[in-house]
Amino acid sequence: MDKQSRRIEQQVVGMETSDGAGVRLTRVLTGKLQRRLDPFLMLDAFGSDVADDYIAGFPDHPHRGFETVTYMLAGRMRHKDSAGNEGLLDNGGLQWMTAGRGVIHSEMPEQIEGRMEGFQLWVNLPAKNKMVEPWYRDFASAEIPKYQTDDGVRVRVIAGTSHGVKGAVVRSDTEPLYLDLHVPLGAAFEEELPQSHNAFIYVYEGVVEVNGTAVAAGRMGILSNDADNVRIAARDDARLILVSGRPLNEPIVQYGPFVMNTQDEIHQAIDDYRSGRLA
Ligand code: CO
Repeated sequence: MDKQSRRIEQQVVGMETSDGAGVRLTRVLTGKLQRRLDPFLMLDAFGSDVADDYIAGFPDHPHRGFETVTYMLAGRMRHKDSAGNEGLLDNGGLQWMTAGRGVIHSEMPEQIEGRMEGFQLWVNLPAKNKMVEPWYRDFASAEIPKYQTDDGVRVRVIAGTSHGVKGAVVRSDTEPLYLDLHVPLGAAFEEELPQSHNAFIYVYEGVVEVNGTAVAAGRMGILSNDADNVRIAARDDARLILVSGRPLNEPIVQYGPFVMNTQDEIHQAIDDYRSGRLA
């Protein structure tokens, strides 16, 4: 008998917005969901064939107190930061940056036409690690562990461990699981998710069904915390990300690119940035 699957508790249509120097994007996980989806602070989805939507990029800006995870489905983006790191992120590539006590970086497109598509996810750091030394790594597409199920589901393991396959990045405090799934029509994918871990899917192509509820492309489905398993069936050839993590249950105080535990720490971050001490 099949195990009980989590349900779709809520569907979220992202908010169209722009960020950086004017990059059009959809903010799927917004501030009001930070508590519900703890330890995740933000998810932006971007996807456009129109250069004007992305060409301005994200010039120098700071971060403190969390990790940024950029996963590029299509396009080329160059990253440079105050710690001296530089890397090119392109088709299928991943960049994981632990801002820790502070990083100032830029993320600029290296293309003037064609498609740019991907995600940026923010993962919180526990209080004890908010001021760690920054860490950064780029993974080319071929370096991201992947496998295929008997059902023909293609899985890329960006973070965590899935079906025994260890992902590109593993984190012990928040235990993030981040999978990019291609579920062909008629197939289904199952994953163990500890019941206390908050989890969501975001479908970027096709339609899936979870415990009787259909979720179409462009929607996030927040998964209920009432089972330790999820079953995702494709109603149409579908592509989606599945993300889950262990909640930190600590105070979240955000001011733009700074996410700390107290207002005082935010004032400190602003002060440090203004006086050139952040990075
Ligand atoms: Co940034």
